Amino acid sequence: MIFDRDKLDKATEYVSRIRAGSSDSEDEEKILQQAWETEQSMMYQDSEEASASMGRAELVLLFRNHVAASLSGEVEKNLRFLLGPEKLWQPGNRSDGPARGLPDFGHPGWEGKIHKLQEYAAGVPSSFFIVLIGNMITEEALPNYKTALDKIAATGNLSGADGTPWAQWSCGWTAEEDRHGSVLRDYLSYTGRADMVAVDKSIFSLLLSGFDPRVGMDPYKLFVYTSFQERATKISHQNTGRVAEKYGDPVLEQICEAISGDESRHEAFYKNMMHQVFNSDPHGAMLAFEQLLRSQVVMPAELMEDGEPDLYKHFSLVAQKEGVYTILDYVSIIEHLIGFWDVASRSVSGAADRAQEFICSLPERYGKTLVPRMDRLLKKIERRPYAWLHGDLV
Ligand SMILES: [Fe+2]
Ligand SMILES: [Fe+2]
Repeated sequence: MIFDRDKLDKATEYVSRIRAGSSDSEDEEKILQQAWETEQSMMYQDSEEASASMGRAELVLLFRNHVAASLSGEVEKNLRFLLGPEKLWQPGNRSDGPARGLPDFGHPGWEGKIHKLQEYAAGVPSSFFIVLIGNMITEEALPNYKTALDKIAATGNLSGADGTPWAQWSCGWTAEEDRHGSVLRDYLSYTGRADMVAVDKSIFSLLLSGFDPRVGMDPYKLFVYTSFQERATKISHQNTGRVAEKYGDPVLEQICEAISGDESRHEAFYKNMMHQVFNSDPHGAMLAFEQLLRSQVVMPAELMEDGEPDLYKHFSLVAQKEGVYTILDYVSIIEHLIGFWDVASRSVSGAADRAQEFICSLPERYGKTLVPRMDRLLKKIERRPYAWLHGDLV
């Protein structure tokens, strides 16, 4: 992207001034937060105060987007984490690769494959199926995530098919991710256990409600968020595969292992990008990481609906119980990112110094508070009907 030199100089000077003064009222995260709230409450209205607030936020964002855009050489190098069509597994390949256990209706033997799939799936408890369906619905809401990636100035893909490294990543990443929902949906429909109409309605409503990862227009927060999410999905699919194997379903195990492998490459890309941001602008990177952790990383499936109350709350407890994604995983991801980005050893001052302290204390704090709270909730978990499984109580 092209930056207006004068505006950029102004933005750089403004950001340096805030950081040098380091007063709490002019903390750059507060400026972004304030502008965000102004925009939410006063959309399409005009006032001097609002435009001053937006103007300040614009300078901070311009600075951060310029830093992110200047990483385009790094993005290019890291495009190696996309495999390309000749190396990638495909959901439709039923003779070779992770989807080989699924039927190909153009080839003999498909009845036998379906029979086997249904036999395996019969040995899997409903609670595990719920987790699998929730994971699949999350993957199917891909348009929501692509929107989040493309709306940020630095990573944006304005024409929809820009030639920039960021745009190449955005399209390549989307193409890879699209296979995850497809293969899981195929698997689920062949098992015959899920009510696919109810599942489709949940996918539909998740897309209908859109998704706000609470990163605003800030590329730093976007990279923290995506690093976190890719690692979370890697762990979740990996564990799903492991549990599927335990229940004696090798077909699902292969599929989940392959998806997890993709997530792992995506995680590596976003983590590398944020590492570069930490190298180029440790102060801003620290503040953005802190802010995202303070607002708690919002999960893409939080807005899932199935006609009964508290779907996500219950679903996430079931996922804990099945050992697919637990509060310990959440804490371990934060710990991992702190280590990967050398957060503890970065030399920062003022607000960023306080942010560093907060971030580094979080894993221990969560270990003491969140983990026991979750244990208590798990003991009290009550069964609830799931439309996804024809009203089964889980
Ligand atoms: Fe995925
Ligand atoms: Fe992913």
